[in-house]
Amino acid sequence: MRGVAQRFDRDGFVAVESFVDGEACDELARRALDLVAAFDLTSDVRSIFSTNEQTRRSDEYFLDSGEAIRCFFEPEAFDSAGELRQPLERSINKLGHGMHDLDPVFDRFSRTPKLAQLSEALGLGGHGILQSMFIFKQPFIGGEVTCHCDHTFLWTEPRSVVGFWFAIEDATRDNGCLWALPGGHRLPVDRRFRRDPEGGTMMDVLESTPYPTEGLVPLEVPKGTLVLLDGALPHLSGPNRSAFSRFAYTLHAIDPMASYPADNWLRRTSPMRSFSGETVAALHT
Ligand code: FE2
Repeated sequence: MRGVAQRFDRDGFVAVESFVDGEACDELARRALDLVAAFDLTSDVRSIFSTNEQTRRSDEYFLDSGEAIRCFFEPEAFDSAGELRQPLERSINKLGHGMHDLDPVFDRFSRTPKLAQLSEALGLGGHGILQSMFIFKQPFIGGEVTCHCDHTFLWTEPRSVVGFWFAIEDATRDNGCLWALPGGHRLPVDRRFRRDPEGGTMMDVLESTPYPTEGLVPLEVPKGTLVLLDGALPHLSGPNRSAFSRFAYTLHAIDPMASYPADNWLRRTSPMRSFSGETVAALHT
């Protein structure tokens, strides 16, 4: 465990292979697909998720998803007539952002004794799980995620967010694996995404120098791997043009004692719970 903590501290990320067994990954994938199958395309909002734009298309559907389970489409899912170009289950970019609290299968996956132990060993035992995402990275149309750090989207003062990224399927360069900049968590955070007082969202540019485009390394990892990501670590994932999906599940945890600005995009009224399931605290705005 010490080696994991040391590499995490040195590089800003660390991959732990075989952290989750294959059956648990399969169960989570089945549950995610069941949730998509139950989604009512005709009456629900066709909210397209894309980080390609400086501001995401930020309708209420997105802004109110902190304590809900919602589907967000791949940007390339629709044709010019607004019809799906592939079946619904191959059209969804991600589910977000409250499955870890609202769905029993996701809750169980997010709060195993092994995960609670690891978070404790990393000094994150008191952190609360703020958000969850199931990312499909669909075959052929899986959208890219441009270089960012997670603190940009889940701002606390002081910075406290840590990302837990689980490979639910093998992640390769072909199907859009993560790329990360070793040691990049020591760079100043370049942007902040937040609610615009005028409505929608906006991106504050904090640094005139963008993150370097060289030096990122691919994190090609097998199914069952857990990748830990420091909140300030620049990372990205490319588009998926392959015939294989790249399912991943992510959790983002923050220190409940840190101040959580009221203009963060994600809002929730119920208190967070830790990796061991304990109620930690309400957001401290
Ligand atoms: Fe991220």
